[in-house]
Order: sequence, then C-alpha cells, then structure tokens
Amino acid sequence: MGRIRVLPDEVANKIAAGEVVERPASVVKELLENSLDAGATELRIEVAGGGRRLIRVADNGSGMLRDDALLAFERHSTSKLASAKDLFSIPTLGFRGEALPSIAAVARLVLETRAAEETVGMRIEVVGGRMQRADEAALAVGTQVTVRDLFYNVPARRKFLRSDETELAHIASLVTHYSLAHPDKSFLLASDGRELLNATPVERLRDRVYQVFGSRVLEELIDLGARERRLEERPEEGEEAAPKLYRLRGFVSRPQVQKANRNSIFLFVNRRLIRDRLLMRALAAAYHNLIPAGAFPFALLFLECEHAEVDVNVHPSKTEVRFRRQSFVHDFVRDAIREALIESKPVSGLPRPARAQPAAELPYSEFSERLQAKAWAEALPETPPAAALPELKLRPLPGPAPRFDFGGPGLKVGEPARAEPAALKLPVPDTHGALPAEALAEPSASMAELADLRPLGQIHESFIVAAGRDGLWIIDQHVAHERVLFERLLKERATGRVERQPLLMPLILQLTPAQEAEFQRIAGELEASGFEAEPYGGRSLAVKAAPAGVGPGDIEKLLFEILEVAERELRGASLEDVRRAVAASIACHAAIRVNMPLDARRVEWLLRALAATDCPMSCPHGRPTALRYSLREILKGFHRL
Ligand SMILES: Nc1ncnc2c1ncn2[C@@H]1O[C@H](COP(=O)(O)OP(=O)(O)O)[C@@H](O)[C@H]1O
Ligand SMILES: [Mg+2]
Repeated sequence: MGRIRVLPDEVANKIAAGEVVERPASVVKELLENSLDAGATELRIEVAGGGRRLIRVADNGSGMLRDDALLAFERHSTSKLASAKDLFSIPTLGFRGEALPSIAAVARLVLETRAAEETVGMRIEVVGGRMQRADEAALAVGTQVTVRDLFYNVPARRKFLRSDETELAHIASLVTHYSLAHPDKSFLLASDGRELLNATPVERLRDRVYQVFGSRVLEELIDLGARERRLEERPEEGEEAAPKLYRLRGFVSRPQVQKANRNSIFLFVNRRLIRDRLLMRALAAAYHNLIPAGAFPFALLFLECEHAEVDVNVHPSKTEVRFRRQSFVHDFVRDAIREALIESKPVSGLPRPARAQPAAELPYSEFSERLQAKAWAEALPETPPAAALPELKLRPLPGPAPRFDFGGPGLKVGEPARAEPAALKLPVPDTHGALPAEALAEPSASMAELADLRPLGQIHESFIVAAGRDGLWIIDQHVAHERVLFERLLKERATGRVERQPLLMPLILQLTPAQEAEFQRIAGELEASGFEAEPYGGRSLAVKAAPAGVGPGDIEKLLFEILEVAERELRGASLEDVRRAVAASIACHAAIRVNMPLDARRVEWLLRALAATDCPMSCPHGRPTALRYSLREILKGFHRL
C-alpha cells in the first residue's frame, strides 16, 4: 500500500492556491522541504547558472515507494495530509501536494528515489509536465531530484528572473537559513562546482551560527537561550485544561548593531522559515528605545508551539502563518527578547578598524555576501573561542577624578595637581612574547560592570573615561544621563508621581493647526508627564508648569519637539508609544549636556545610576551610552597580538 494519495477535491480546494514556482530559490525551497519532511539528515544542493541551468537536491531520507514516485506528479498528491481536518494541525513543511507537479511543468525534471523497503529504485523523467519515461534503477536509499532549464517553456517567467548572481544569492540565503533551523543535519551547497556552504552536524544552534556566520558575528549576538510561556485557556465542555507551551529560541543582536533594512531578520515558526508582521512588530517593540527608529536588528528567531496553534495554510508558498492567539504570541516574543536584552546589558566596543580578511568584514545582511560562505567556513578556527581574559590591575588613583587636559579648544584643566593620568597595567610579559592563546578571546562585556568602574576623568568635558576589569571605558555623559532620566520618568509616570516645576510666568506658545490637533490628541499624556498647559485663545497655548529638570529656556523647544515627533511618528501609535516618546524628549532636554565639567562625585553617581537602569546600553533614541576598549583591542593596537 503506497503512502501517497491524491487529495479529494474538497480538501484540495481548501488549500491556499497560487503559484509555487516563482524563481530558482522557490524550487530549492520546495525540494529542501521535501527532503526534511522525509527525515533526511544529509542534504546536498548543487546549482548551476544561478539555478536556471541546474538545481539538484539529494537526500538520504525515506525515499519513495515505486508507485508513489509515479503518483507524486499528480496535482494534489501527498503523503502528508489525508482529510480536511488535518489542515488545522500540520506537522510537516509540505502538505499541498503541488510542488513536484508544478516544478515538473516548467522544467526538465528527473526524480531518482528508492525507499528502504525496496531493493530497487525508480528513475522518472518529466519534461514540461509530460512523463517521458519511468524505469527501475539501482539506487541508494533516498531521493535525488534534478531540475534543468527552469522556465524553458515559459518565456514570460524567464524574463522576470534577475542576474545569476542574484538568483544564486537567494538560493544561498535560503539554504543557509534552513541549515540554521537544523543544526543536527548536514547541508552542502555548491554552485558551478564551487562549494558555498558546508555545514556538518553540530549539537547546538550556537555552533551552527558559528559555522555559518563566524565568530565576529556571534560576538555581536545575544543568545536567547530557551524562553517559554504557557498559554492557559479555559477548557471547553468536557475537555481537560491543557496549557499550551510556547517556546522561543535564537539570537538577537546587541543594540549597537543596526541594520538599514529587514534583511537580517529571520523568523521560523516550528522550523518553517516565514515572513510575519506580528513577529516583526514584537521584535520592533522589544528594541523600542534601544535602537533608533528606522533601524533594524539582526534576529534569528525560532518559535515553537503546538501545530494546532498556528495556521500555515495561508499563503501558496507557505511563507506566511496565522496565529490562533495573536496578542499572546506578540507579547511573549516581545517580552522574551526584551528580557534577554536587559539581562545581558551588552556594551558597545569601539568601532572596528577595517580589516583585510573578508570573513570579518562581511556584514551578514547582504545576500550576495552569503555567497562567500565558503570563505567564512575556511576562516573558522578549529576550536571555538575560549574563556575570559585575566583581570586588569589598576594602580589606585587617590582622590576625586581629575579631568584630562588634552589641550583642545575650550578645555579647562581640572585639579591640576592630580592630573597625571592613571595607568592601566596590562598583564603582558615585558618581553615582546605573545600572550597565551586563551587570553586572546574577547570576553563578552556586560554593562553590569558599570557599577564597578573606576572613573579616571573627563575628556572634552563631555565623555567620562573609566577603567574596568577588562578594558577602558568611555561614557557619553549626556546620553548616559538621558537613559537614567528616561527610565526614572517612566517609573514616576507609572505611579503617577511625576515631579513638575511651576513657571513664574506662563509661557505662551503659538501653534499651527496641525500642532493644535496633535496637542489635543496627546494632551492627557503631556499632563501626566509633568506639563500643565491649556488653550489660550485662538491656537495659542499657555504653559504653566513643566517637568522638573528642564531648563526654562528649553521648555518651548521641548514642547514643539514633542508635537513634531507626535506628528511624524506617532500617528496610530499606542498610548505606550506616545508615553515613551514624550519621556524620551523630556529626558533629552533635562539631561546633563556635553561640554559640562563634572566633579568626581557626580561622575560616580552617574555611573551607578546608569548601572541601575534596565537598559543601560543605549539612550532612548538608540545611541550607545558607553564604548569599551577591550584589553584585546588595546593589545592589538600596541601590536602585542
Ligand atoms: N525527497 C523526498 N523524499 C521522500 N518523499 C518525497 C520527497 N519529495 C517528495 N516526496 C513525496 O512526494 C509527495 C509530493 O511532494 P510535493 O509535491 O512536494 O507535495 P507535498 O510535499 O506537499 O506533499 C510528498 O508528499 C512525499 O510523499
Ligand atoms: Mg513538498
């Protein structure tokens, strides 16, 4: 009895209809999904001419029985679905029974397959949808599908294809990401005889990320670990209460990694690579006030849930899903990522100088650069990076922190008697010998260290210089204070205890009609944030009180800025967004400025206050608060590495 059957019409008709084969990468996707569904652990993908001339996917999966192999080319023939009911809980990547016939209709296809149960395999040749021959053949267990001359009979389609390089880039991206979803399987991708990706089985997702992207990228990522949340639902009549478990794994970038587009965001639901607005929004919400508006993080997210919790039968190429419990999923993903960001409190390194090695230079967002996966693979050291660096010993620096005089314009010398800069004593042998290999690895720095920093001074009356356990820190005093105030404001706002300062004279502002409308919309939020303002005839506004800490000369600018931001960005934004935007503006205007001398007491206070925030790594507008010059970088700079 075969495994494949043709779906009855009433089931077939319920399946999201549409074209499956858009470009070479869609062929690769369908074939890869079939191999994974067949339980393969070794997947080999070979292409030529960007997939136009040749796509071959070979696997060591279950293979097909002989009759099944013939049946597989009928439309809606599948072994993965039996009844319409099954559509509500799909455990496999495929289910439509359309891929093989659709591909065969627009190319020259050869299927070679053998099931373990059989001693001999089948070789079937289909050209432009017509079966040319089907013969028994001596084959190993598994399946190999060869697709040549894609769209040879559909010139209209051919015209829409891009350059070979672009098509290949799409294929490489796809294979790369399926390989990330299955670290325990081996993936080999070769193009025109060149090996682009060779990922051998590894135990952890982390190892696969390392294989594919290299250690530089891994350093910039935060491992989410496995985060879970249970969905408790009231049971239906006669049902038992069974909480549904949702799990999120993966990696997201430290906030200082900012991408110009969404190309570095990869979302998987039950190991299916998808595009999804809801998850995108959850990700954006997690990074809200951590990276600038309009910037995107790198993210590799694997969401797992019961199959019945997510409808995958939404889009013909199965790249979209619909969650049964949308707001639950959104909140879970947002919170899980935010928690991870808050826990790791990652700190920015100094911008890296350009390096000659291509592996380190590759930004992982660009598809075309994935083509150099081979180069990355070669650049991988044999052993993963090792443990942390030895501690930095600091020579004690008595008394209040001196300000450094670098002789720049407008600089004053502070505390001249103690202005001798503190020395960092590096654990480097006096000879020019090399450090032991384990000392070379970059320790993952955490903003938690902030509280233990030893302030050394201030440069340009704008940046605090401090020594830490494993490096030299530079903290932007304005941005750091902004973060402190921002979080304090939000907390005060939540408890209804915002401090305000009454103005001696009401400030009268003239609004445009648009500003007037914005003011009406966010008046409640302004009031709760410490403003007291009311209409004053015409389109004028009388401001009688403002949030504490904002200089009187700044209030007008601040209000106009809030109105402008509201107009530009907050249309349709949630109350929470408005609140955060208002708090961010107030914090910016109330924070310590640059070009302001600070005494040691204030510096220490600021560092401690910053360390105590939830997200010390960036200001509410997404700029980094601190840079760290690690020991490794210092050693490199002195050519001791
Ligand atoms: N690589 C493979 N290994 C084993 N069986 C396969 C493979 N590719 C396709 N098949 C069989 O052919 C059937 C039809 O494949 P396809 O047209 O992609 O539809 P679907 O994957 O939606 O079932 C599958 O249901 C499966 O039984
Ligand atoms: Mg399929």
